[in-house]
Amino acid sequence: MPNPPDHGNAPPATGREWWRDAVIYQVYVRSFADSDGDGEGDLRGVRSRLPELAALGVDAVWLTPFYVSPLADGGYDVADYRDVDPRFGTLADFDDLTQRAHELGLRIIIDVVPNHTSSAHAWFREAVAAAPGDPARSRYVFRTGRGPGGDRPPNNWRSIFGGPAWTRLKRPDGTPEEWYLHLFDPEQPDLDWTSPDVHAEFDDVLRFWLDRGVDGFRIDVAHGMVKDPALPDLPEGQKADLLDGSVELPYFDQDGVHDIYRRWNAIVASYPGERALVAEAWVEDAPRVARYLRPDELHQAFNFQFLTAGWDPAVLRRVVDDSLAANGAVGAPTTWVLSNHDVTRHPTRFGAGERGLRRARAAALLALALPGSAYLYQGEELGLPEVTDLPEDALQDPTWERSGRTERGRDGCRVPLPWEGGEEPYGFGPPGTRPWLPMPPEWGRYSREAQRGDPDSTLALYTSALGHRRASIDPAADLAWIDAGAGVLAFTRGDGFACAVNLGGEPAELPAPLPAPRTRVLLASGPVREGAQALVLPPDTAVWLVPAES
Ligand code: GLC
Repeated sequence: MPNPPDHGNAPPATGREWWRDAVIYQVYVRSFADSDGDGEGDLRGVRSRLPELAALGVDAVWLTPFYVSPLADGGYDVADYRDVDPRFGTLADFDDLTQRAHELGLRIIIDVVPNHTSSAHAWFREAVAAAPGDPARSRYVFRTGRGPGGDRPPNNWRSIFGGPAWTRLKRPDGTPEEWYLHLFDPEQPDLDWTSPDVHAEFDDVLRFWLDRGVDGFRIDVAHGMVKDPALPDLPEGQKADLLDGSVELPYFDQDGVHDIYRRWNAIVASYPGERALVAEAWVEDAPRVARYLRPDELHQAFNFQFLTAGWDPAVLRRVVDDSLAANGAVGAPTTWVLSNHDVTRHPTRFGAGERGLRRARAAALLALALPGSAYLYQGEELGLPEVTDLPEDALQDPTWERSGRTERGRDGCRVPLPWEGGEEPYGFGPPGTRPWLPMPPEWGRYSREAQRGDPDSTLALYTSALGHRRASIDPAADLAWIDAGAGVLAFTRGDGFACAVNLGGEPAELPAPLPAPRTRVLLASGPVREGAQALVLPPDTAVWLVPAES
């Protein structure tokens, strides 16, 4: 194979690793921008829109899976880890995209999906064709069933998308034989991480993309992979919910997973340019998350405790303290995440309508003022709400069918982005494109074009916040809380910056050292009244403050 092009790495090291305080923008490739009008976003589409992400002011882009895949789970079912699915483009498109991103000063993070492959992966096909006991089966979790004739699954584990976590194979003549484990969809068989082949394969996959110039990996289901070898039954009624790490499970957050990350850390560290590993680990609490961030393991983990904290000042404050303390103890930065492709968009979570958007804007200023790194999910800079009324026949998330059509799943946060114009496809694709999920009729008002130039738009708020974050917040400055009364979260980051958020139901007068005239409002998520002596913060509003003379 010819050597892949050397794109080097994005911006030179600054003395403080870039990922410690980077703002990373999540691109859900299928829904970002469609260059060829087939209704699905693609890598050329992403490339063409990179200047708009650079203008927004983010540091890096995380691309969700674009690998060869039947898309049974939106691409988290990978059939070939070393190639691009034709609907998303080609390897050459990926190289062009990486090069362009680096020219614009943007780093590129890609997904790696190591807990399971697609059932269309060559390894799984080989395993299915082989006889029970054949080494080809040792890369997955095959077991005989229980009961007479092995008719019952090997244990009582449930798939996260609903139904049993085991599917039984059938010979071509219809004879039933072994069962295989799939914590997610039946089209996502779990790999067996006791197999040396599996370790070697992922070492090589990481190197493949590192050689192509990626700046890091987001590790899918990073708390999965290693299972309790006894595969014990769960207590009756217990079920894994992807978003609930509070239940102890024999297939999540097992100690052995950390050995894998030590090995991956060494691989990544052998490359120049501060490449980073970020964990998607829905585990119990901040100390359990921090175990993934020990100095010889991963660099960052999504802070799902923050994402699930709701609009509650006490809970948020506790989450901030706990995560900073736990991550600080292992020398790792904390990340702040409000949305992603698996959860209801936060304006809708925070109460929908005008109130939800007001809170979402305030939450963004909170997240972007906290010490550490922040993740933005595509469209949150436009204030996009969840689409809650997708027609049933449009739903694609496997959750919908697997739950017996009782849970609609995650499509509502995956609706393609509106870029410009007043009707579908709103610039998502060329005119006439039918997006893979229908776009709501009123989405013209959320488009980037409609918001550009409007100083009160959510796009303007995010753009200003990212600019001011660079200019006015010392990344090394710790957080110090200010007691601002129930309902208000307020803190400083050094002498030169403060943030206050009113999560209560009443206007709040900010106490010293916050009120004018010693400070001035640098940025506000909504209208604020700045009097001569006091600053009154309306409900659901956040402000960034700097010394008056600055
Ligand atoms: C992760 C992904 C999610 C996917 C699941 C299975 O949680 O974020 O979208 O369904 O893993 O790969």
